[in-house]
Amino acid sequence: MDRTGSQVTEGGPPEPGAPPETAWVEVVTPGRFAGQTVIVTGAASGIGRATATRVAREGGRVVAVDVSAERLEALVTELGEAVVPVVADITNDDDVARVVAAAEGRVHALANVAGIMDDFAPVAEVSDAMWDRVLAVNLTGPFRLMRAVIPGMVAAGGGTIVNVTSEAGLRGGAAGTAYTASKHALIGLTRSAATMYGPDGVRTNAVAPGGVATGMAIPGVNAAGMARLHPVHATAPAPAQPEALAASIAFLLSADSVNLNGAILPSDGGWSAS
Ligand SMILES: NC(=O)c1ccc[n+]([C@@H]2O[C@H](COP(=O)([O-])OP(=O)(O)OC[C@H]3O[C@@H](n4cnc5c(N)ncnc54)[C@H](O)[C@@H]3O)[C@@H](O)[C@H]2O)c1
Repeated sequence: MDRTGSQVTEGGPPEPGAPPETAWVEVVTPGRFAGQTVIVTGAASGIGRATATRVAREGGRVVAVDVSAERLEALVTELGEAVVPVVADITNDDDVARVVAAAEGRVHALANVAGIMDDFAPVAEVSDAMWDRVLAVNLTGPFRLMRAVIPGMVAAGGGTIVNVTSEAGLRGGAAGTAYTASKHALIGLTRSAATMYGPDGVRTNAVAPGGVATGMAIPGVNAAGMARLHPVHATAPAPAQPEALAASIAFLLSADSVNLNGAILPSDGGWSAS
């Protein structure tokens, strides 16, 4: 249950008498990704796992990418042959080449979901190691995957790409400097690709989640930074469930988003509106 009383089910209308009328129930669109190959990074946990699951249940073949072999295996156990697991680090170009090879041809869509948090440090206290790692995973990884798949999409006449940015891509007060810079830059990457490849039929959009109830690790807390951010965090709605984000991402990955290119979609319960 999330703040709206949402429940996640295998689809279909709510059972009589079960959830209240206002509850959100995840209803799959059967066959929306039938015949399609979709690369999902960060597929072993949280938003990426929910996205991979939704695409697979809507008929897609998912190339599921993560650094965690064990959690990817659990995904395969749950979803079966719809999932092609690839243990890979998206910051490594050889690994990215293996991801594309695992697709065995046409890639219809790419969801760049994998990402890591920073420690909420303000710029004067950001270590080189934190800066380099956060930028590598949150920005360079998505860049490498886009660079690898876009030529095939252009040659085939189209494709969709969804980058997962953050509330921290929309404002300065949601996270530390490194994470905020990485997520703002990902929006620039999204808009540039949308402009460059829209005429070729490749649509690139982004989803900006607010708080989401996942196991995303926080590598320590910079006390001074967190004290500054606290008033902004206090205005956030309660965290959403990952399946609610998967709904937004799957929409943008699918043909249902036909008229969207370069859009940055806040999926944050309205946080960024205030
Ligand atoms: N959870 C939130 O509140 C929240 C809010 C805003 C944005 N986001 C963004 O949503 C995305 C998903 O976050 P989540 O909450 O599901 O996190 P998560 O930690 O649950 O899942 C992220 C997955 O990415 C994988 N990963 C990390 N580095 C990788 C790498 N180099 N190569 C391949 N895989 C890698 C991890 O192993 C993990 O399975 C991230 O981009 C994050 O920045 C999350």
